[in-house]
Amino acid sequence: MSIHRKKSLAYLTAEVFEGEGEQGLKRTLGAGNLIALGIGAIIGAGLFVRTAAAAANNAGPSVTIGFIVAAIGCAFAGLCYAEFASMIPIAGSAYTYSYATMGEFIAWIIGWDLVLEYAVGAATVGIAWSEYLNKLLEIFHTHIPYRWSHSPFEICDGKGLFASEAGIHGLINLPALFIIFMITLLLIRGIKESAYFNGIIVISKVAIVILFIVLGWSFMNPANHIPYVPAASNYVDGQGVSHHFGGIMGILGAAGVVFFAFIGFDAVSTAAQEAKNPKKHMPIGILGSLAICTVLYILFAHVLTGIGSLNDFRTTGKEASVAYAIKTYMAGYGWLADLVTVAILAGFSSVILVMLMGQSRVFYTMSKDGLVPKIFSDVHPKFKTPYKSNWIFLVLVGGFAAFVPGDIVGDMTSIGTLFAFILVCAGVWIMRVKNPEIPRQFKTPLVPLVPILGIIVCGAMIFGLGWTNWARLLGWLVIGLIIYFTYSVKNSTLNKGGK
Ligand code: ALA
Repeated sequence: MSIHRKKSLAYLTAEVFEGEGEQGLKRTLGAGNLIALGIGAIIGAGLFVRTAAAAANNAGPSVTIGFIVAAIGCAFAGLCYAEFASMIPIAGSAYTYSYATMGEFIAWIIGWDLVLEYAVGAATVGIAWSEYLNKLLEIFHTHIPYRWSHSPFEICDGKGLFASEAGIHGLINLPALFIIFMITLLLIRGIKESAYFNGIIVISKVAIVILFIVLGWSFMNPANHIPYVPAASNYVDGQGVSHHFGGIMGILGAAGVVFFAFIGFDAVSTAAQEAKNPKKHMPIGILGSLAICTVLYILFAHVLTGIGSLNDFRTTGKEASVAYAIKTYMAGYGWLADLVTVAILAGFSSVILVMLMGQSRVFYTMSKDGLVPKIFSDVHPKFKTPYKSNWIFLVLVGGFAAFVPGDIVGDMTSIGTLFAFILVCAGVWIMRVKNPEIPRQFKTPLVPLVPILGIIVCGAMIFGLGWTNWARLLGWLVIGLIIYFTYSVKNSTLNKGGK
């Protein structure tokens, strides 16, 4: 029994072709489609919520430099992802690729780690949804009381929307729980990712970002950008958490936080089998969507931190920061704030859908492989969806969304995904040395330089996220190892004569 056993590539391919309607994936996607796919998957809570948090807690206006660091890390890791994706001719995730190439143990770590990216990520976006829902309700002169829209670990500072609730502790974040619940129901009923619906959401998200940049530009107050890179210090936030603020550490910390805004671009790499000309179109798709988003993100962050002050993002404008900045400082553009709020709510819902779907797909495959219990691959007799898995994840994701603050789940998502990226970068390099003969439709350029740079930049962001987050990641991995060695290693299909 070896924890380094691998799934055979030939068997993997056959399994898919027997199975789930994935055969005949047509090569229809050109570079433009791939770029749209990437942009659709990535613009979300990272930009509309985490930007202000990173400015407030880590870097002030230099959060823009944080975006550049995060984008560089993503570009290196993305090129590595694309080689993996093109090596194994099925639509899959980092979990599937690593099982066939690096063996079961690493595959388990990645699969377990992806829970942080998908499930905890969905909780983060759910919490962001809750903030903007309150902003929407403000239009109708009402809001959901602090107690019912925040985690028990948060305490109201009595600013803005919650002016009369100073000192009150949160109890449960009901709106976040609600949106996770509704989307779980949709998933159980078997909603398809509709290209049409996705198209509308992509266009409206990009339109909002551009509108905000263009209309907001003249409302920037130059004083808010001074100093652009604040001097290094320590900042203790309203909840008593200490952050490295300013200087290099501040920028690295901000990069780790806003890295969240790029999560999902790896969706492009999973479309390798549908690309018309993977060799040419994959790097264009990955780097193109990254480049466009990076430019938009930098401009957006520059305008946002120019309109609102650091103090705003630490206090009154901490939540639903974009709508807040427009309402407070852009006289005459109240309509834009309302439009932004509605579009953000819709955009967040689609990000949650994609993340929860990704989560149930990964656990479905892991369950078929025997690494997690069979319940995760039981399908509904009528809807043909892994409904039991969806219910179980509702408890986990809903629990995070209802009871943990957004900053914490956001950082956990970032650190988990960064760790998965590092493993993928290392994996591509290892595979080049160990199995150079496996055909690859797309090859990462300049191996081992690109994987090494990917590991260094992603590692630097992990470093910037600070020891509380390292401890959380470590704790999560330890739980994973206990499950692997007490359950998965024995129940693995490979252990029972599977291939
Ligand atoms: N990149 C996605 C977002 O920012 C996960 O919401």
